[in-house]
Amino acid sequence: MADPVWTLGEVLSATGGRCEGDPAAPVSGFSIDSRALAAGEGFIAIRGPNRDGHDYVAKALQSGAGCAIVEETFPGETFLAASEEDGKADLDESRLVRVRDTFDALNDLGRKGRDRTDHAVVIAVTGSAGKTGTKEALRAALAPSGTVHASAKSFNNHWGVPLTLSNMRRNIDYGIFEVGMNHAGEIFVLTRLVRPHIAIVTTVAPVHLGFFASVDEIADAKAEIFEGLEPGGTAILNRDNPHFDRLAEAARRHGAETVGFGEDERAEVRLLECDLGADGSAVTSDILGETIAYRLGAPGRHVVQNTLAVLAAVKLAGADLAAAAEALGGVHAPTGRGQRFVIATGQEPVCIVDESYNANPASMRAALQTLGLAPRSEYKRRVAVLGDMLELGQEGPRLHRELAEAVDAGGVDVVFACGACMASLFEALPRARQGAYAKTSEDLAPALLSGVRPGDIIVVKGSLGSRMAPLVEALKRRFEDG
Ligand SMILES: Nc1ncnc2c1ncn2[C@@H]1O[C@H](COP(=O)(O)OP(=O)(O)O)[C@@H](O)[C@H]1O
Ligand SMILES: [Mg+2]
Repeated sequence: MADPVWTLGEVLSATGGRCEGDPAAPVSGFSIDSRALAAGEGFIAIRGPNRDGHDYVAKALQSGAGCAIVEETFPGETFLAASEEDGKADLDESRLVRVRDTFDALNDLGRKGRDRTDHAVVIAVTGSAGKTGTKEALRAALAPSGTVHASAKSFNNHWGVPLTLSNMRRNIDYGIFEVGMNHAGEIFVLTRLVRPHIAIVTTVAPVHLGFFASVDEIADAKAEIFEGLEPGGTAILNRDNPHFDRLAEAARRHGAETVGFGEDERAEVRLLECDLGADGSAVTSDILGETIAYRLGAPGRHVVQNTLAVLAAVKLAGADLAAAAEALGGVHAPTGRGQRFVIATGQEPVCIVDESYNANPASMRAALQTLGLAPRSEYKRRVAVLGDMLELGQEGPRLHRELAEAVDAGGVDVVFACGACMASLFEALPRARQGAYAKTSEDLAPALLSGVRPGDIIVVKGSLGSRMAPLVEALKRRFEDG
């Protein structure tokens, strides 16, 4: 077995916790979700807004947790489990780590996890769109150069970030962290835990406008990432974004170097040539003075942009640029963010593009633009199935209506729409483009399923709360079943 990430003794000294178990006992990592726990890991009983992890301690220990971090007051001797069926259990005190506050313990472990790395280059990724995609591209790009530890999924918040840090081995070469926010002040806390050497801001766009008065305020909240930069650190910023100057100024105030990426002539990491294909792109770019040509395995201009930031980070991290660029050819869109399913139908094939994981004005535009790359020789119709972009506050209807332009630019033939805000877009479309509209994704399904046909390329996109994923599944079934 590989070296454990922690020993019980180290856990106790990091958290100030108490436990009767053997201090030399290995703890292979941490989880806050008893269902996702691997044997030998520590389960941290976090109190969330809906659930209390303490209700799942018995289950976690039964399913092989090495230990459970619980609060002092947690009744260990006779434990009432989460459901009646689980009955009562005597918990093994030698596997209970008792702390004053489990959320603090999680943060303590994260902080310690970061502090003890001996030589890792740490990279933080934030932005209004493209964090997960950029993080995954970095993971692949750095893999040829050394051992990489990166956030799972979109673990980017006050639980996900310290958890990712707590699972980091001390001798890794590269640590990659997705850092997200809904409100001002959140990134500030997270970046001080991560203490990156390199901070990437992919883009700034109107997202979560329900919580912010302006996009400038969103830019300022992203700029909080620089607060945690290590001395001599570098900020990698989107040179083509209207908020570049604001971010660059903030970065310099924190003593950081700045590197701009994009098409702008002033960008230090600059796109020189780009052939956007339907399945990927061929790119030539100047990465801090080094010209390099490479292919990308996922389509779209936004993907090209993100990879400029990735290669900038690779170069700054002192890793192998050529190997990184080559690895990008094998990076495909993550689940729900542009994943493609081509289905043979007996007639012309159909392509379903699953963008159901999330949506905001920036990523909607990116998806519609990418749909516009589909060759007419391959797919006769371009179909967009759109659900509401949530959390936009009062600006919601306007930001939805304004997508009509992107629908037009992408040469989208038919739009199926659902949700209160999407009504604004649907009404703004010319008659010929109106497929069908319904209040909910569920109600849209019948009209959608009868309105699509072989030869279509169909992108399905909306915020997670708009429940667009079931439509992706329904479309797949519709064509797979003939
Ligand atoms: N630079 C970008 N600009 C606009 N949209 C983007 C960009 N990068 C990725 N996207 C799109 O944003 C959506 C979310 O991507 P993801 O990588 O999950 O971002 P995040 O983690 O920031 O939510 C996807 O639809 C993706 O295609
Ligand atoms: Mg994400």
